[in-house]
Amino acid sequence: MKTPLRVAVTGAAGQIGYSLLFRIASGAMFGPDQPVILQLIEAPVEKVMLALAGVAMELEDCAFPLLKGIVQTSDPAIGFKDANWCLLIGAKPRGPGMERADLLKDNGKIFIGQGRVIDAVAAADARVCVVGNPANTNCMIAASQAKRLPPERFTAMVRLDQNRAQTQLAQKAGVDLTAVKDIFIYGNHSPSMFPAYAQATINGKPATSVITDTAWLQGPFCEIVGKRGAAVIAARGLSSAASAANALVDHVRSLVTPGAIHSLAVKSNGHYGFDANVWAGMPVRTTTPGSYEVITGHAMDDFAKSKLAATNKELVEERAFVAEMIA
Ligand code: NAD
Ligand code: LMR
Repeated sequence: MKTPLRVAVTGAAGQIGYSLLFRIASGAMFGPDQPVILQLIEAPVEKVMLALAGVAMELEDCAFPLLKGIVQTSDPAIGFKDANWCLLIGAKPRGPGMERADLLKDNGKIFIGQGRVIDAVAAADARVCVVGNPANTNCMIAASQAKRLPPERFTAMVRLDQNRAQTQLAQKAGVDLTAVKDIFIYGNHSPSMFPAYAQATINGKPATSVITDTAWLQGPFCEIVGKRGAAVIAARGLSSAASAANALVDHVRSLVTPGAIHSLAVKSNGHYGFDANVWAGMPVRTTTPGSYEVITGHAMDDFAKSKLAATNKELVEERAFVAEMIA
């Protein structure tokens, strides 16, 4: 029996939390032979902590063989203690008519405190994945507080966008989803993101030789993927939750699987023209469990370059907007 991994989850009683925790406990995130201890962190509000207790009861009632313990707390110092993985979901979601960046000032503050506490009390091998919006900039804020954990340990989620892009390409080409490979998301988790269709393949051929409608690829495809979150909010009245939880399972599963190639928002060191020190989506290859290298050298045409410049500009503006929150 492996040693249980301690997995801290913020916003555990929220929508995404409710779709996520059962999949972590079932083994979907870390594998069928990896026990876990869930360290559930919520806001210090009586009603919310009661809801969290209900979620914990349901987790117990599933009798998951891999679930070796549940911590329920509103104290981050308890919740992040010795955590190997810190999944930062707890934050306000946007409502209809809002952009994710509208959440910056409110949600950004949460990530200052959490970044500091994680750095102080989490396990030496801790990895931090940020989902709470605006995810890229919140991740940068959390990482900026860390003195012990290196910035590469902090990643933000663009996997939902990758999954959305994969489905859109498959539907357009009229092929099974699994025929679409190597579709990566560059930049911000916002409408400015760039799903780099020219790098994708469909049944092993360049996607652009299968979908020859360049106007669709440059227009509706980028637009549908970039604005899918708003479309879900408009339809459901609530932001995406089950698909976001699923994407986080994919994000972490790929990150613990050596050789996996996938999109992560990571600290830029100037890759693909992104400003140093913004967290931008880009393709990575997992090297050892929890570690990755950025895949560099993908060629970019003029259209791609203009999209990268636009999403980089937005990330730089978000960083300027929260300058006082960055340590
Ligand atoms: P939700 O409102 O249902 O749940 C959020 C939970 O976070 C609430 O239970 C709240 O009490 C808790 N919370 C708030 N502040 C906290 C704190 N300081 N510490 C711990 N918990 C705290 O929202 P949701 O639908 O679960 O979405 C959560 C976040 O994820 C939102 O910001 C949303 O926009 C974002 N999101 C990101 C993606 C992505 O692809 N990156 C996708 C979907 C949603
Ligand atoms: C999404 O992409 O579905 C989430 O980021 C929620 C949102 O605000 O769009």
